Amino acid sequence: MPTPHEIVARLTLEEKASLLSGQDFWHTQAIEGVAESVMLTDGPHGLRKQGGSGDHLGIGDSRPATCFPPAVALASSFDVDLVHEVGVRIAAEARAEQVAVVLGPGINIKRSPLCGRNFEYFSEDPWLSGALGRAWVEGIQSGGVGASLKHFAVNNQEHDRLRVSADVDERPLREIYLRAFEHVVTHADPWTVMCSYNRINGLHASENPWLLRTVLREEWGYTGLVVSDWGAVKDRVAALRAGLDLEMPGNGGVTDAELVAAVTDGRLDEAAVDRAAERVLALIQRAATAGAPRDPATVHAENHAAAREIAARCVVLLRNEPVGDAPLLPLEPGSRVAVIGEFARTPRYQGAGSSRINPTRLEDALSELSALHDDVTFAGDDLTEAVALAHASDVAVVFLGLPPEAESEGFDRTDLNLPPDQLAMLEAVLAVQPRTVVVLSGGGVVTVPFAQRVPALVQGYLLGQAGGGALADVLTGRVNPSGRLAETMPLRLADSPAYLDFPGERGHVRYGEGVFVGYRWYDARDLDVAFPFGHGLSYTTFAHDDLLVSGDPSGFTVRVLVTNTGDRAGRDIVQVYVGKPSSQLARAPRELVGVAVVDLEPGESSIAEVRVPTGQLAAWFTGRGWAVEDGEYHVAVGTSSRALTGHTHISIAGDDLTEPLHLESTIAEVIADPIAGPLVAAGLAEQGADSADDVEGVGQMMMSFPIGRVVRMSGGAVSTDDIQALLDAANAERG
Ligand code: GLC
Repeated sequence: MPTPHEIVARLTLEEKASLLSGQDFWHTQAIEGVAESVMLTDGPHGLRKQGGSGDHLGIGDSRPATCFPPAVALASSFDVDLVHEVGVRIAAEARAEQVAVVLGPGINIKRSPLCGRNFEYFSEDPWLSGALGRAWVEGIQSGGVGASLKHFAVNNQEHDRLRVSADVDERPLREIYLRAFEHVVTHADPWTVMCSYNRINGLHASENPWLLRTVLREEWGYTGLVVSDWGAVKDRVAALRAGLDLEMPGNGGVTDAELVAAVTDGRLDEAAVDRAAERVLALIQRAATAGAPRDPATVHAENHAAAREIAARCVVLLRNEPVGDAPLLPLEPGSRVAVIGEFARTPRYQGAGSSRINPTRLEDALSELSALHDDVTFAGDDLTEAVALAHASDVAVVFLGLPPEAESEGFDRTDLNLPPDQLAMLEAVLAVQPRTVVVLSGGGVVTVPFAQRVPALVQGYLLGQAGGGALADVLTGRVNPSGRLAETMPLRLADSPAYLDFPGERGHVRYGEGVFVGYRWYDARDLDVAFPFGHGLSYTTFAHDDLLVSGDPSGFTVRVLVTNTGDRAGRDIVQVYVGKPSSQLARAPRELVGVAVVDLEPGESSIAEVRVPTGQLAAWFTGRGWAVEDGEYHVAVGTSSRALTGHTHISIAGDDLTEPLHLESTIAEVIADPIAGPLVAAGLAEQGADSADDVEGVGQMMMSFPIGRVVRMSGGAVSTDDIQALLDAANAERG
């Protein structure tokens, strides 16, 4: 097969340009005898393949496909193997439908709990987002189907998403908003990266050479294809020049002609067209290597069964307090169970917008619970009926959550509240039935003012088409829950990091919280939360002992003995957090650097091991770049960012952060320098300063003066050349 380069060499400018935008809504352009057309379509929690013209808002119908748990729930598993499996399974369905690229995963950081599309993203934490995004990409691509890592970058709200400028400082940009993308690009090599709609510090991602060339290709070494989000290209010529290879959807060749005209009149280098055309052809050739598709019906059946097990791993048990001599969950066999709330019968199982899947099947919790538990009676949203039933039962299971119209791609929420009628119904049920379990559904977190008054609380999020069965499995104890919160549940919206900077105004949104996103914020400000990042209970209990950390030049390994101290098998998610109390930078108390998933029988113990490469400790030093600070790091293990079960520390030989001295170096910096300090003291002594104290005596207020300015104010006593020579000598001696 000729290489893309060889093919391009034989094409006309018009043919090459025709490859750089879609043939229609979902396909690349075919060229007779040269290039097949391949299909790119949504994702990311199942396949959304449309016939005909299609739409990017999930309005039109699509082929039946398995609807797996959306990212918000998948992330709650904290399990890269589980997410990898979902990727493999979606690939099988995409292959069966001749789809070359599935548009996902979405790995944007959950900056605000108000973002209407948080259901489609993994976490508020960049490490977790990167680890899970990598697993999804590796999974789907292992099945011969490409991923489209999205939305690159800093797309953290829906409000004005095609125009808003995300105004973010360099350090949070690197450490928080690009970090997961960097991890996935450099470890999983996604076939495509999808640029986002928004601007970043004033420039559209679709025509941002710093983002698409300097960072993505020159720094991260990416060689795949950059595709636009659908409708994200504003200026096609500027976009191609910046590194955007493929514009989607197709536009009938209008912008192809703009490219041809720009090359013809010298505004655009034809090499840019060639480069992008080669990448489109390389994608087409990659797609051609995929193996033979399997029978869709078989794949669907297998995937539905797996979807139930996968979803059960995503359920987060937030509370399960004893009532009398036992907790309410798992439900006691033979107990009279009142199931209340329409979500039990009409489940919310996915979000709205471009990710909306047409599921092959749909399970509801009521039916599945009735199949597993003998005495289940249902009351819908009629309050009188619900109260009567709750009163006549042994336990009430109340399904609450965000109605579909509360959240979606395309708009953001304005509050975190559950609907008032749901809260009123809960209060009425609690008044007659204190033995009440609440099950939450929804793509985003909600405030739970009732949390301490209900004995049991389950965060079900959106669990996909088999979520009803998964919830029934957890409620009855067929599955022991192991989910953990991948985002903080705050007590109040006003406590959240972006509260006063979301969604911005006049086309700009200021990322004023800097690196303090999610638990980093709540921990740094010591704010109480409803439920912390990483939290989740089990029907058994675990102990962590014998925490050990061992370092080596490339990083360190954390080991902790995990014991199942309860009476049933269960899964623990051991989290490792690192903090650096003394730092040149403002840092959060702790940051997640790794997790270990441990399955244990009752009484069983095993050593959980988490490897932390030194690079994971790197911070972004504006003006210098990535560096690992020297010194002592605190290492903690825990079952959430607030429930730390073990503490230790490790000394890390970091990077040399000393910077060459210059005339703009302050007096304090010069004096503190082990080489220049004594030289300056000696120099001042020659000028009559009779002791080092005089050096210090320069006066606290002068310490912040750049030495070059002080010299100029010395009335000729000291020359700039003398000081420069001294600084040069110090720099030279330091080497
Ligand atoms: C949408 C979304 C993107 C999706 C694309 C195609 O507007 O932002 O995630 O993949 O268009 O539907």
